[in-house]
Amino acid sequence: MANWTISKMSGHCGATLTGLSLNEATTAELEGVKDALFAHGVVVLPAQFLTPLAHVALAEFFGQIDINRFFTPVAQYPMIAEVRTAATQNAVIGGTWHTDHSYDPAPAMCSILSAQQLPPYGGDTHFASMTEAYTGLSDGLRAALSGLKAWHSDGSFGDSKVGLKSKAEAFRDPALHPVIICHPVTSAPAIYVNGDFTTHFDGWTIEESAPLLAYLYRFVTQPIFTCRVKWQAGMVAIWDNRLVQHYATADYAGHERLMHRITVQGVQLEGL
Ligand code: SIN
Repeated sequence: MANWTISKMSGHCGATLTGLSLNEATTAELEGVKDALFAHGVVVLPAQFLTPLAHVALAEFFGQIDINRFFTPVAQYPMIAEVRTAATQNAVIGGTWHTDHSYDPAPAMCSILSAQQLPPYGGDTHFASMTEAYTGLSDGLRAALSGLKAWHSDGSFGDSKVGLKSKAEAFRDPALHPVIICHPVTSAPAIYVNGDFTTHFDGWTIEESAPLLAYLYRFVTQPIFTCRVKWQAGMVAIWDNRLVQHYATADYAGHERLMHRITVQGVQLEGL
Protein backbone atom coordinates (compact mmCIF):
# COMPACT_ATOMS: atom_id res chain seq x y z
CA MET A 1 0.00 0.00 0.00
CA ALA A 2 3.13 2.12 0.05
CA ASN A 3 2.41 3.73 -3.33
CA TRP A 4 -1.25 4.44 -2.79
CA THR A 5 -2.79 7.83 -2.78
CA ILE A 6 -6.19 8.58 -1.33
CA SER A 7 -7.68 11.95 -2.22
CA LYS A 8 -11.02 13.21 -0.98
CA MET A 9 -13.58 14.01 -3.69
CA SER A 10 -15.48 16.52 -1.59
CA GLY A 11 -15.67 17.68 2.00
CA HIS A 12 -18.14 15.07 3.23
CA CYS A 13 -18.25 12.16 0.81
CA GLY A 14 -16.08 10.07 -1.51
CA ALA A 15 -12.40 9.42 -2.16
CA THR A 16 -10.30 8.48 -5.19
CA LEU A 17 -7.76 5.69 -4.70
CA THR A 18 -4.84 5.52 -7.12
CA GLY A 19 -1.76 3.32 -7.35
CA LEU A 20 -3.63 0.05 -6.81
CA SER A 21 -4.76 -2.66 -9.26
CA LEU A 22 -7.93 -4.43 -8.13
CA ASN A 23 -7.17 -7.25 -10.58
CA GLU A 24 -4.06 -8.15 -8.56
CA ALA A 25 -4.70 -6.71 -5.11
CA THR A 26 -3.49 -8.57 -2.02
CA THR A 27 -5.75 -9.19 0.96
CA ALA A 28 -3.86 -6.49 2.89
CA GLU A 29 -4.50 -4.00 0.08
CA LEU A 30 -8.19 -4.93 -0.04
CA GLU A 31 -8.40 -4.42 3.73
CA GLY A 32 -7.08 -0.93 3.03
CA VAL A 33 -9.78 -0.39 0.39
CA LYS A 34 -12.40 -1.50 2.92
CA ASP A 35 -11.08 0.94 5.53
CA ALA A 36 -11.24 3.74 2.94
CA LEU A 37 -14.78 2.69 2.04
CA PHE A 38 -15.94 2.93 5.66
CA ALA A 39 -14.16 6.28 6.06
CA HIS A 40 -15.48 7.93 2.86
CA GLY A 41 -18.72 6.08 1.98
CA VAL A 42 -17.71 5.67 -1.66
CA VAL A 43 -14.31 5.04 -3.24
CA VAL A 44 -13.46 5.23 -6.94
CA LEU A 45 -10.46 3.57 -8.57
CA PRO A 46 -9.59 4.81 -12.08
CA ALA A 47 -8.43 2.59 -14.97
CA GLN A 48 -9.03 -0.83 -13.40
CA PHE A 49 -10.60 -2.61 -16.40
CA LEU A 50 -11.80 -5.37 -14.03
CA THR A 51 -12.32 -8.78 -15.58
CA PRO A 52 -15.65 -10.42 -14.64
CA LEU A 53 -13.79 -13.00 -12.56
CA ALA A 54 -11.85 -10.30 -10.72
CA HIS A 55 -15.12 -8.42 -10.17
CA VAL A 56 -16.66 -11.52 -8.56
CA ALA A 57 -13.51 -12.15 -6.47
CA LEU A 58 -13.48 -8.53 -5.29
CA ALA A 59 -17.14 -8.76 -4.25
CA GLU A 60 -16.49 -12.02 -2.40
CA PHE A 61 -13.74 -10.31 -0.42
CA PHE A 62 -16.45 -8.01 1.01
CA GLY A 63 -19.01 -10.78 1.64
CA GLN A 64 -21.60 -12.98 0.01
CA ILE A 65 -22.86 -11.82 -3.38
CA ASP A 66 -26.51 -10.81 -3.32
CA ILE A 67 -27.81 -11.39 -6.87
CA ASN A 68 -30.26 -8.66 -7.86
CA ARG A 69 -33.65 -10.23 -8.54
CA PHE A 70 -34.76 -7.58 -11.06
CA PHE A 71 -31.71 -6.80 -13.20
CA THR A 72 -30.58 -8.69 -16.31
CA PRO A 73 -27.49 -10.79 -15.57
CA VAL A 74 -24.34 -10.53 -17.66
CA ALA A 75 -24.11 -13.48 -20.10
CA GLN A 76 -22.16 -16.35 -18.46
CA TYR A 77 -21.80 -14.41 -15.19
CA PRO A 78 -25.14 -14.68 -13.32
CA MET A 79 -23.61 -12.99 -10.24
CA ILE A 80 -23.01 -9.76 -12.21
CA ALA A 81 -25.95 -7.49 -13.07
CA GLU A 82 -26.09 -5.34 -16.17
CA VAL A 83 -26.88 -1.66 -15.64
CA ARG A 84 -27.61 -0.88 -19.25
CA THR A 85 -29.03 2.20 -20.96
CA ALA A 86 -30.04 1.81 -24.61
CA ALA A 87 -29.68 4.80 -26.92
CA THR A 88 -33.48 4.91 -27.18
CA GLN A 89 -34.05 5.27 -23.41
CA ASN A 90 -34.74 8.57 -21.68
CA ALA A 91 -34.87 7.18 -18.14
CA VAL A 92 -32.00 5.16 -16.63
CA ILE A 93 -31.66 2.51 -13.93
CA GLY A 94 -30.97 4.28 -10.64
CA GLY A 95 -31.97 7.69 -11.98
CA THR A 96 -33.49 8.80 -8.67
CA TRP A 97 -31.83 8.97 -5.24
CA HIS A 98 -31.86 5.54 -3.64
CA THR A 99 -30.14 2.87 -1.55
CA ASP A 100 -29.56 -0.49 -3.25
CA HIS A 101 -31.67 -3.40 -1.93
CA SER A 102 -33.08 -1.55 1.11
CA TYR A 103 -36.22 -3.68 0.58
CA ASP A 104 -34.37 -6.78 1.85
CA PRO A 105 -34.46 -7.87 5.54
CA ALA A 106 -30.62 -7.91 5.60
CA PRO A 107 -30.01 -5.18 3.02
CA ALA A 108 -26.96 -4.69 0.84
CA MET A 109 -23.60 -3.82 2.34
CA CYS A 110 -21.73 -2.51 -0.69
CA SER A 111 -22.21 -2.29 -4.45
CA ILE A 112 -19.34 -2.47 -6.92
CA LEU A 113 -19.89 -0.77 -10.28
CA SER A 114 -17.46 -1.30 -13.14
CA ALA A 115 -17.60 0.91 -16.23
CA GLN A 116 -17.87 -1.06 -19.50
CA GLN A 117 -19.17 1.43 -22.05
CA LEU A 118 -19.56 5.13 -21.38
CA PRO A 119 -21.45 7.83 -23.26
CA PRO A 120 -19.39 10.65 -24.82
CA TYR A 121 -20.60 13.00 -22.05
CA GLY A 122 -22.77 12.80 -18.94
CA GLY A 123 -23.90 9.70 -17.06
CA ASP A 124 -22.14 10.80 -13.85
CA THR A 125 -23.19 9.20 -10.56
CA HIS A 126 -23.85 11.34 -7.49
CA PHE A 127 -23.47 10.11 -3.92
CA ALA A 128 -24.76 11.67 -0.69
CA SER A 129 -23.44 10.92 2.79
CA MET A 130 -26.16 9.73 5.15
CA THR A 131 -23.86 10.08 8.18
CA GLU A 132 -23.13 13.74 7.40
CA ALA A 133 -26.83 14.33 6.74
CA TYR A 134 -27.60 12.84 10.17
CA THR A 135 -25.08 15.22 11.72
CA GLY A 136 -26.80 18.13 9.99
CA LEU A 137 -30.22 17.45 11.52
CA SER A 138 -31.45 19.42 14.52
CA ASP A 139 -31.26 17.71 17.91
CA GLY A 140 -35.05 17.62 18.00
CA LEU A 141 -35.54 15.90 14.64
CA ARG A 142 -32.69 13.49 15.36
CA ALA A 143 -34.35 12.46 18.59
CA ALA A 144 -37.76 12.07 16.92
CA LEU A 145 -36.37 9.97 14.05
CA SER A 146 -34.36 7.76 16.39
CA GLY A 147 -37.59 6.30 17.73
CA LEU A 148 -39.01 5.45 14.29
CA LYS A 149 -38.84 2.50 11.93
CA ALA A 150 -39.85 2.55 8.26
CA TRP A 151 -41.08 -0.02 5.74
CA HIS A 152 -39.15 -0.63 2.52
CA SER A 153 -40.67 -2.33 -0.54
CA ASP A 154 -39.44 -3.52 -3.94
CA GLY A 155 -42.83 -2.50 -5.43
CA SER A 156 -41.35 0.39 -7.43
CA PHE A 157 -39.79 -2.18 -9.79
CA GLY A 158 -43.36 -2.90 -10.96
CA ASP A 159 -43.63 0.20 -13.14
CA SER A 160 -40.06 0.33 -14.36
CA LYS A 161 -39.46 2.49 -17.44
CA VAL A 162 -35.75 1.84 -17.41
CA GLY A 163 -35.43 -1.21 -19.62
CA LEU A 164 -35.89 -3.88 -16.92
CA LYS A 165 -38.07 -6.86 -17.81
CA SER A 166 -41.05 -7.35 -15.50
CA LYS A 167 -40.37 -10.32 -13.18
CA ALA A 168 -43.49 -11.10 -11.13
CA GLU A 169 -41.71 -13.88 -9.22
CA ALA A 170 -39.00 -11.51 -7.95
CA PHE A 171 -41.19 -9.49 -5.55
CA ARG A 172 -40.98 -10.17 -1.80
CA ASP A 173 -42.69 -8.92 1.37
CA PRO A 174 -41.64 -5.44 2.59
CA ALA A 175 -38.85 -5.13 5.17
CA LEU A 176 -38.76 -2.94 8.29
CA HIS A 177 -35.61 -0.98 9.27
CA PRO A 178 -34.80 1.73 11.82
CA VAL A 179 -34.93 5.23 10.30
CA ILE A 180 -31.61 6.02 11.98
CA ILE A 181 -29.27 3.06 11.77
CA CYS A 182 -26.05 2.39 13.61
CA HIS A 183 -23.47 1.37 10.98
CA PRO A 184 -22.75 -2.33 11.58
CA VAL A 185 -18.95 -1.85 11.51
CA THR A 186 -18.17 1.72 12.53
CA SER A 187 -21.28 2.37 14.67
CA ALA A 188 -21.71 5.75 12.93
CA PRO A 189 -25.36 6.88 12.97
CA ALA A 190 -26.87 7.27 9.49
CA ILE A 191 -30.26 8.16 8.00
CA TYR A 192 -31.76 5.10 6.30
CA VAL A 193 -34.84 6.07 4.25
CA ASN A 194 -34.84 6.54 0.47
CA GLY A 195 -37.26 7.71 -2.18
CA ASP A 196 -37.26 4.57 -4.32
CA PHE A 197 -38.08 1.97 -1.72
CA THR A 198 -39.26 3.47 1.61
CA THR A 199 -43.06 3.48 1.71
CA HIS A 200 -44.01 4.74 5.20
CA PHE A 201 -43.10 4.91 8.88
CA ASP A 202 -44.15 1.94 10.98
CA GLY A 203 -47.45 2.74 12.71
CA TRP A 204 -48.09 5.75 10.43
CA THR A 205 -50.17 5.80 7.23
CA ILE A 206 -48.57 6.43 3.85
CA GLU A 207 -50.32 9.80 3.77
CA GLU A 208 -49.06 10.78 7.23
CA SER A 209 -45.53 9.66 6.38
CA ALA A 210 -45.24 11.45 3.02
CA PRO A 211 -44.49 15.04 4.21
CA LEU A 212 -41.72 14.05 6.64
CA LEU A 213 -40.20 11.59 4.17
CA ALA A 214 -40.27 14.25 1.44
CA TYR A 215 -38.51 16.68 3.81
CA LEU A 216 -35.85 14.08 4.61
CA TYR A 217 -35.22 13.26 0.93
CA ARG A 218 -34.68 16.96 0.19
CA PHE A 219 -32.53 17.39 3.27
CA VAL A 220 -30.19 14.43 2.74
CA THR A 221 -29.45 15.22 -0.91
CA GLN A 222 -28.31 18.83 -0.38
CA PRO A 223 -25.12 19.44 -2.40
CA ILE A 224 -23.03 19.89 0.74
CA PHE A 225 -23.49 16.19 1.58
CA THR A 226 -22.64 14.96 -1.94
CA CYS A 227 -19.85 14.12 -4.32
CA ARG A 228 -20.03 13.50 -8.06
CA VAL A 229 -18.28 10.65 -9.85
CA LYS A 230 -17.33 11.49 -13.41
CA TRP A 231 -16.76 8.11 -15.01
CA GLN A 232 -13.65 7.27 -17.04
CA ALA A 233 -12.88 4.13 -19.06
CA GLY A 234 -12.28 1.12 -16.79
CA MET A 235 -13.16 2.98 -13.58
CA VAL A 236 -14.61 1.10 -10.61
CA ALA A 237 -16.71 2.61 -7.82
CA ILE A 238 -17.46 0.84 -4.54
CA TRP A 239 -20.02 2.30 -2.14
CA ASP A 240 -21.42 1.30 1.23
CA ASN A 241 -25.21 1.43 0.99
CA ARG A 242 -25.51 2.02 4.74
CA LEU A 243 -23.38 5.20 4.45
CA VAL A 244 -24.48 6.79 1.15
CA GLN A 245 -27.38 7.08 -1.26
CA HIS A 246 -26.71 7.44 -4.98
CA TYR A 247 -28.24 8.88 -8.15
CA ALA A 248 -27.39 8.08 -11.79
CA THR A 249 -27.68 11.09 -14.11
CA ALA A 250 -29.87 10.58 -17.20
CA ASP A 251 -28.31 13.29 -19.38
CA TYR A 252 -26.96 11.38 -22.38
CA ALA A 253 -30.07 10.59 -24.45
CA GLY A 254 -29.24 9.00 -27.78
CA HIS A 255 -26.14 7.25 -26.39
CA GLU A 256 -25.53 3.87 -24.79
CA ARG A 257 -24.04 3.23 -21.38
CA LEU A 258 -23.20 -0.15 -19.83
CA MET A 259 -21.97 -0.82 -16.32
CA HIS A 260 -21.51 -4.14 -14.51
CA ARG A 261 -22.73 -4.18 -10.91
CA ILE A 262 -22.37 -6.64 -8.06
CA THR A 263 -24.10 -6.07 -4.76
CA VAL A 264 -22.84 -7.69 -1.58
CA GLN A 265 -25.14 -9.00 1.13
CA GLY A 266 -25.22 -7.06 4.39
CA VAL A 267 -26.67 -7.77 7.81
CA GLN A 268 -29.92 -6.92 9.54
CA LEU A 269 -29.73 -3.26 10.58
CA GLU A 270 -29.95 -2.05 14.17
CA GLY A 271 -30.96 1.37 15.43
CA LEU A 272 -29.04 3.54 17.86
C1 SIN B 1 -27.18 2.11 -9.64
O1 SIN B 1 -28.14 2.70 -9.20
O2 SIN B 1 -26.68 1.17 -9.05
C2 SIN B 1 -26.59 2.54 -10.96
C3 SIN B 1 -25.69 3.71 -10.82
C4 SIN B 1 -25.15 4.15 -12.13
O3 SIN B 1 -25.43 3.51 -13.15
O4 SIN B 1 -24.43 5.13 -12.17
